Amino acid sequence: MFANKPTLSGERVTLRPVGPEHVDGLWELVNDPETMRLTGSQGKIDREAAKIWYGSRGDHDDRLDLAICTAGDDAYVGEVVLNELDTHNLSCNLRIALIGPRAFGKGYGTEAIRLLLDHVFATTELHRVGLEVFGFNERAVHVYRKVGFVEEGVRRDVLRQDGEWHNSIMMSVLASDWL
Ligand SMILES: CC(C)(COP(=O)(O)OP(=O)(O)OC[C@H]1O[C@@H](n2cnc3c(N)ncnc32)[C@H](O)[C@@H]1OP(=O)(O)O)[C@@H](O)C(=O)NCCC(=O)NCCS
Repeated sequence: MFANKPTLSGERVTLRPVGPEHVDGLWELVNDPETMRLTGSQGKIDREAAKIWYGSRGDHDDRLDLAICTAGDDAYVGEVVLNELDTHNLSCNLRIALIGPRAFGKGYGTEAIRLLLDHVFATTELHRVGLEVFGFNERAVHVYRKVGFVEEGVRRDVLRQDGEWHNSIMMSVLASDWL
């Protein structure tokens, strides 16, 4: 479904297929304390593994990994990914993360999600895109609602962070909602 790895241009960002040239940015992203907190990241990856990861995403037609780059100077500021493709039910998962607080709140996330969903719902048979977001991540919940994701339910106490338990919210958008 995702054999075509597009470059998608917006006013604020350009989405490009991830590659080894984006590894410095990925390294900053996976080590940023605030992005790690908001995404509930608990593991560490090493730099060589990050390079292999970005170098090999283009080989997989069951996922779409796009670097979010600023429209002005083409600097990497994050990634938006469609993964967990279910070809029988035409659904997949979306995840997005920006590199850290220096990139938050500038409209990059909103535009990146809209560009990606515009593209996949127009060019593939995909029916449903789901995601899960921690309840404390109010900026992300706001952005997902704003672009059209609908809340489906809550998973209780899925994350333990600094001794506190946190719920996650399940959300989805359907092709019919989008179009
Ligand atoms: C979530 C994320 C992708 C959003 O992208 P972004 O570029 O920062 O968001 P935007 O600038 O496009 O939009 C931010 C919106 O949230 C609103 N906002 C900011 N802080 C908020 C808060 N604490 N509560 C509610 N809304 C908030 C802004 O007002 C803006 O809304 P508006 O456009 O209606 O005014 C980005 O912040 C990020 O990568 N965060 C860290 C990783 C993460 O949380 N990923 C999601 C995991 S599920």
